[in-house]
Amino acid sequence: MCGIVGYTGGRRASEIIYEGLKQLEYRGYDSAGIATLSGGNITVVKRQGRVNALENCIGDISGSTGIGHTRWATHGKPSDINAHPHSAGKFAVVHNGIIENYAYLKERFFKDVSFTSQTDSEIIVRLLDAFYSGNLLSAINKVGSLLKGSYAIVVMCTDFNGLVVLKYNNPAIIGYGSGENFIASDCPALAGLCSEITIPEDGDIAFVTKDGVEIYDAGLNRVERPRLENLATPASLELGDCPHYMLKEIREVPASVEGTVLSYRTAEAKLKRVVNGVKRVIIIGCGTAYNSGLVAKRYIESFARIPAEAEIAGEFRYKNPIITADTLVIAISQSGETADTVEGVKLCKSLGAKVIAVTNSPYSGITRYADAVAPVTAGSEICVAATKSYTGQITALYLLAHTIAGLSIGEAYARLAVMPSLCKKTLECAGIDTLADMCARSGGVYFLGRDIDCAVAAEGSLKLKEVSYVPCEGYPAGELKHGTLALIDIKAVAVVIITSKHLAGKSENAVEQVLSRRGKVAIISNIDGIEKTFEGRAQVIKIPACDENLSPLLSAIAVQLLAYKTALLLDRDPDKPRNLAKSVTVE
Ligand code: F6R
Repeated sequence: MCGIVGYTGGRRASEIIYEGLKQLEYRGYDSAGIATLSGGNITVVKRQGRVNALENCIGDISGSTGIGHTRWATHGKPSDINAHPHSAGKFAVVHNGIIENYAYLKERFFKDVSFTSQTDSEIIVRLLDAFYSGNLLSAINKVGSLLKGSYAIVVMCTDFNGLVVLKYNNPAIIGYGSGENFIASDCPALAGLCSEITIPEDGDIAFVTKDGVEIYDAGLNRVERPRLENLATPASLELGDCPHYMLKEIREVPASVEGTVLSYRTAEAKLKRVVNGVKRVIIIGCGTAYNSGLVAKRYIESFARIPAEAEIAGEFRYKNPIITADTLVIAISQSGETADTVEGVKLCKSLGAKVIAVTNSPYSGITRYADAVAPVTAGSEICVAATKSYTGQITALYLLAHTIAGLSIGEAYARLAVMPSLCKKTLECAGIDTLADMCARSGGVYFLGRDIDCAVAAEGSLKLKEVSYVPCEGYPAGELKHGTLALIDIKAVAVVIITSKHLAGKSENAVEQVLSRRGKVAIISNIDGIEKTFEGRAQVIKIPACDENLSPLLSAIAVQLLAYKTALLLDRDPDKPRNLAKSVTVE
């Protein structure tokens, strides 16, 4: 959450930072700002709104060192004043994270000072200004020792021709150029600018100049951190012929399945060692990642016949979980930086669990604490709503469940081999436009299913509500009659997912119950003959037949397209839904 960019080199900093902020806009888009250093002076421009609100000011700010920020408000409403960078005296800073003790620090050090903004971040620049007396490292170290919470901070000081990064529990990446260096919250902002990156560790302070990078650990020892390949490419950011990233990324689902299968092969041996002797599995994640955990629970229990629980990471970490040495924790996160998931992983490690990270971000926080990584190779996902990463996660989890169960992985690969072409067929399936129209006009949409279909129903509901703002619920079809049925009337739409053959009849009962209350029904199914059963009564979206366990890869595409098309009908921006941002690095 919040995107940070820093540049120091020989080029006009504001232009590079502006382009970088546009790449990071998925991390927050309620206000943005840039500060540059030129002739020993700092100039700041900041505006409420999206990054392009800065476009007309870029030419006005000179300097070849600068910082920029795109904000997702935590403290203080979106406004010009609350936008970053914040400045005081010789300093300007940008901050991603939350300073939990800002009110205490303000009271302690600035009792009678009135602050300019309502943000927690302003305290950082005020403290720097107060504690600086010529030694930048010592002032930054002192300020870092006072802050409680999470942060990635980039500091600019008029006495230093470069930038300083201070990081704790929030991502910051340093990119190496030639005669220039970069800082960003995430690799996509550095795509095409640098092929090598370094990821500072928590507590590190990094001095970045155009000529090099010096890193100090929390004890102020000079340290070297590894240089890694920047895997993000400019091509991954291009929209091609798609009007939105959401559509582009749904169309990339077949490639995400294929890519994830390929990368699982390279990780398989290590994963096999880590799962050896596991007696119980806990799966943690948030939002869509949690929903893919619901699918994984079914895979693990049915293939390995050992207990598996899917838990929302933000709840799990505060419930004093029961973990034993033979517990395997599977942490799922597209970004690998979701604060609740990363903290859940740290907790489980401290309690002695083995941890496997399932992530689309190979260098992310979650991978640093895990015993092994089951890679999701979906490519950069820019749209705030997760799509191809969900199907990539399901692919990785399907394979991981085979590894846990000791089942033939070769057969799993063979079953998955046909899925990319079935995914492509699903992208063309008929009837979604009509259903989107029904949803856009509805008073509420109820996604229903049983067993594995129920897990996809939860994701269908999340997807539709976040991009269209239509009220939705994802519900077990059999549970409808125990309360939720009271909500069904002529304005309600039920989207019933039916791919489990042995439960089809049961789910059809739910269809009948909704129809009897004059609700409208659409069925997403690959069961033969279902169109005939509901002819003239329900709209059927037919998806290709496939191995039953892999049907979520196809039904997910149908619900993702439905969400996208409904959002367009309601004139929403599907890539940047209101109030949301990707990579939720705050609690
Ligand atoms: C929904 C969505 C979110 C994320 C959630 C976890 O479309 O994108 O619900 O799934 O914030 O994010 P990651 O997977 O990065 O941990």
